[in-house]
Amino acid sequence: MNRRKTVLDLRKMKADNERIVMVTAYDWTMARLVDQAGVDMVLVGDSLGMVVQGHDDTLPVTLDHMVYHTRCVSRGLENAHLVGDMPFMSWQRSTDQAMHAAGRLLQEGRAQSVKLEGGEAAAPTIRALVSAGIPVVGHVGLTPQSVHAMGGFRVQGRTEAQAEQVVRDAVAVEEAGAFCLVLEGLPTDVAAEITHRVSIPTVGIGAGPHCDGQVLVSTDLLGMNLSFKPKFVKRYETLEDTILQAVQRYSTEVREGVFPGKEHSFNRRPRKVAKLY
Ligand code: KIV
Repeated sequence: MNRRKTVLDLRKMKADNERIVMVTAYDWTMARLVDQAGVDMVLVGDSLGMVVQGHDDTLPVTLDHMVYHTRCVSRGLENAHLVGDMPFMSWQRSTDQAMHAAGRLLQEGRAQSVKLEGGEAAAPTIRALVSAGIPVVGHVGLTPQSVHAMGGFRVQGRTEAQAEQVVRDAVAVEEAGAFCLVLEGLPTDVAAEITHRVSIPTVGIGAGPHCDGQVLVSTDLLGMNLSFKPKFVKRYETLEDTILQAVQRYSTEVREGVFPGKEHSFNRRPRKVAKLY
C-alpha cells in the first residue's frame, strides 16, 4: 500500500528541523528511482519544457503536457509527495480557469498538490484553490514563467527594494494558505530571512543553504547535459558521459556482429514427441 508523504508530514519536517529533499521527475522510470532513493517530494516541473521538450524556456508547456507527465510520474511513486506544476497561463485568466487546471492535475495527473509561480498577485488564486481543498506550493523570487518580464533568468532580490518585495510576496503566499514555498534564485540572506519569517517550509533552488529544503532538476543533478552548468547546480554524477559511452559500446558491438550473442537469442521450441503409451 502506498504511503505518500502528506502536507502534514512536510509541515512536521519543518517543525522538527528536518531538511526536505525535493527533485523533479517527468516520467515513470525516473520517478521510481528517485522514490527508491528516498526523496521527500517529487515535482513534475514545467522545466520539462526545457529538459524534456528542448525549448529555451518553460512558456510553451501546456496543461495537457503537465497532466500527462504528472500521471506518468504518479505511477512510479510510493513514498514521495507528488507536486504538479501549473504551467504558464493556466490560471491567470480567472479563478474558474485555475480550479479547472489544478483539478486536472489532481484528478487526472494524480498529484497531491499543485505549484504556481507568483507572490502577492497570485495570492487570491492560492486562497481560492486552498479553500477548494487543493494544497498549494508557492514559488517566489526567480519565477521562470516571467522570464521576459525579468529580462532573462536573473537572480532576484539583490537590491533592498527588490528584497523587500520578495519578502512581501512570500508572506502573502503563506497568508493565502500555501503549505510550502519554493524560493528560486535569491541571495542567501533574503532566502534565510523568508525562511525565518514564514511558518511553512521553504525549499530553495539557487537560494543558499538556509532554506528548509532544497530542490534540483533531476537531469542537472545527474549531469545529463554537461553543457549546462549554472552556479547553483551541483552535479552528483556525469550521466552524459556514462550514457554516451554505453551507446557507443552498443553501436560498436552491433556493427561488429558481437551483439546479440547466443545468450540474448532464442532457440526454436523443441517439438513435442507424441507419447505412444
Ligand atoms: O519547473 C521546475 O522544475 C521548477 C523547479 C526548478 C523549482 O519550478
